[in-house]
Amino acid sequence: MRNPRLFKDQSKLSFDYVPERLCHREEQLESLDMLFRPVLEGGMSQTAFLIGSVGTGKTATSKRFCLDLMRAAQERGRAMDYIIVNCRQRSTEVAVLRRIVMHFDENFPDRGFSTEEMLRSIRKHLEKRRMHLLVVLDEADVLLSKGAGDLVYQLTRFDEEVVGGRPSLSVVMVSQKNVLDLMDPASRSTFRRSNVIRFDRYGARELADILRDRTELAFFPGAVRQDALDLMADIASEFGDARFAIELLDRAGMLAEEEGAEHLAPEHVRGAKALTYSVVTESKIEDLDKQHKLVLLAVARSIRDQAYVRTPEAEAAYRLAAEEHGERPRGHTMFWSYLQDLSNQGLVGTRVANEETGGRTTYISLPDVPAKVVRARLEESLGRS
Ligand SMILES: Nc1ncnc2c1ncn2[C@@H]1O[C@H](COP(=O)(O)OP(=O)(O)O)[C@@H](O)[C@H]1O
Ligand SMILES: [Mg+2]
Repeated sequence: MRNPRLFKDQSKLSFDYVPERLCHREEQLESLDMLFRPVLEGGMSQTAFLIGSVGTGKTATSKRFCLDLMRAAQERGRAMDYIIVNCRQRSTEVAVLRRIVMHFDENFPDRGFSTEEMLRSIRKHLEKRRMHLLVVLDEADVLLSKGAGDLVYQLTRFDEEVVGGRPSLSVVMVSQKNVLDLMDPASRSTFRRSNVIRFDRYGARELADILRDRTELAFFPGAVRQDALDLMADIASEFGDARFAIELLDRAGMLAEEEGAEHLAPEHVRGAKALTYSVVTESKIEDLDKQHKLVLLAVARSIRDQAYVRTPEAEAAYRLAAEEHGERPRGHTMFWSYLQDLSNQGLVGTRVANEETGGRTTYISLPDVPAKVVRARLEESLGRS
């Protein structure tokens, strides 16, 4: 392979990389700092709740925060640790608890333990180490929508039984939507309104700053043209999604590199855009749960070669698709809320129009990928599960 002329360190564009500096998230980090200052002093435990759509930096911010908090704890000689649990990968109470228990005891037996026993074991480990643990439940909505509210309740009330000991467990929940609705009133009261930290979609200027920082880390000086950077920020601002922006930078860089170009130029950005749309969409589709997949499948089937499909037709197609895949079709309200979720993720577009009859109809569109492709992808994925 040719020596890279553009990339200095491509790994800085990978999703696992946590930047030292998160521009435009200072406010959110500051709020977290404030909330957790008393925890650091050893006086209390805390709960917080990060909410925002895809690619707004929730995961990156919580990772950055955990690392910063550990540093601060170390400086103060406090025993502190953190665990970030991806609840999409571990979406049951038992799976989440096992992840936490195994953080302390790799050889913890695979089965045969109740949630109570696992909670007790976690408490024992923390007491023994006189340690405070911060548990981050990333994508917590997946966990809660599967009815694991009790676990959240248990974790947020973890210290209540402890008499005389110091508070030992804090919880941060991260989610795309407001999971407060998915909780029972008891746990909801723990996540007081004041502890909600919001992540708005990024605008073009903010994305330009994020891209500039990443460019400096990942490329040689001068390798990326300013007009190319501006174009990427502009394209990604449609979704306000930093993940999309960085993916675009990565792919445009690879295209330019393959070509042996001197610079990453707007033409590479356009090429990357065509590729990235479908890649981002595919990974989003894989992440959906079964009901959301069925709704999207229904849209893709009923839209055929039209630009739009109206909600009633899509809903009829959804009921058929659900039955076909052995799922109970949910009612209209749930269908509607699934549709909104898909729209928030940019997987469908929705537009409300006033009809001549005086009523209002919602028109659903598929923004970037051909319906045929979406359909095939979903049928394949639903067939596997
Ligand atoms: N303010 C920021 N500065 C630098 N990089 C960012 C920023 N916000 C997000 N990113 C990067 O964008 C990508 C998506 O962010 P992520 O935290 O995964 O979003 P979310 O969890 O909200 O979907 C990650 O690679 C992350 O490092
Ligand atoms: Mg995330």
